Amino acid sequence: MAEILDGKFYACEILKEVEVEVAALKSRGITPGLAVIIVGENPASKVYVNRKHEACEAIGIYSLVIRMPESATEEELLAKITELNNDNKVNGILVQLPLPKHINTEYVLDQICPDKDVDGFHPMNVGELGIGRNRLVPCTPYGCIKMLELAGIEIKGKKAVIIGRSNIVGKPMFNLLLQRDATVTVAHSKTQNLPEVCREADILVAAIGKPKFVTREYVKPGAVVIDVGINRVDGKIVGDVDFDDCKEVAGAITPVPGGVGPLTIVMLLFNTAKAAKIQNKLM
Ligand code: GUN
Repeated sequence: MAEILDGKFYACEILKEVEVEVAALKSRGITPGLAVIIVGENPASKVYVNRKHEACEAIGIYSLVIRMPESATEEELLAKITELNNDNKVNGILVQLPLPKHINTEYVLDQICPDKDVDGFHPMNVGELGIGRNRLVPCTPYGCIKMLELAGIEIKGKKAVIIGRSNIVGKPMFNLLLQRDATVTVAHSKTQNLPEVCREADILVAAIGKPKFVTREYVKPGAVVIDVGINRVDGKIVGDVDFDDCKEVAGAITPVPGGVGPLTIVMLLFNTAKAAKIQNKLM
């Protein structure tokens, strides 16, 4: 039976660190601020944005939620981003994805000032991560890494397999694991013999977007299984990993919900405090 990696516990541990950072900034007269823009009425996005807002308020980060209608134009969204880029009270800007289809997501994200890009999606931050000069690192993969470190799980020298090559999770996860001296494979929908490839992994990261896709035949006995998936099935949230099946084989495994999710939120707070330090030339 696998050890269950309790994301809430590790998120609380990281939160303590962030609270210290926020207090230190406040003692210098700096209140970190986060602006989240949500366009439209996607129900899941609304839930995530509310959680982000509540998490900020709970630790004294100034939080601004900008709600724009589904019909908002790209120009209107860009004007808001320009305003926030120039607003000294705002250290972090996050545009909740997905955006409505008539808006060019890539172009919009490129307009966020890189120093305020708390999602770590701007090409400048992506490039910095690729060459090991980590500035603002995408929250979900960074949270997974912090959890592995806090749980005392060795990464160095291990074989890691990531299923999924997205810009949000798969690719930054590749860089973070490689930086820590893992041997990393990025598998995806065109990978051949996927179960066999995955069974090589000491650390298996599932970021596919398909409910319960990973079953025990993908898992090497004793492997660490990180489930990044959030899928809604019949009103219930399930991960990309068949938890009940894999927990019999894995050495450690994250549940969904209560695994990676809480870490993503706390890393957003971490990045907001870091952005405030960058903008105030404190790092
Ligand atoms: N929607 C789902 N995941 C994310 C994320 O990490 N950042 C943003 N901005 N939107 C998301």
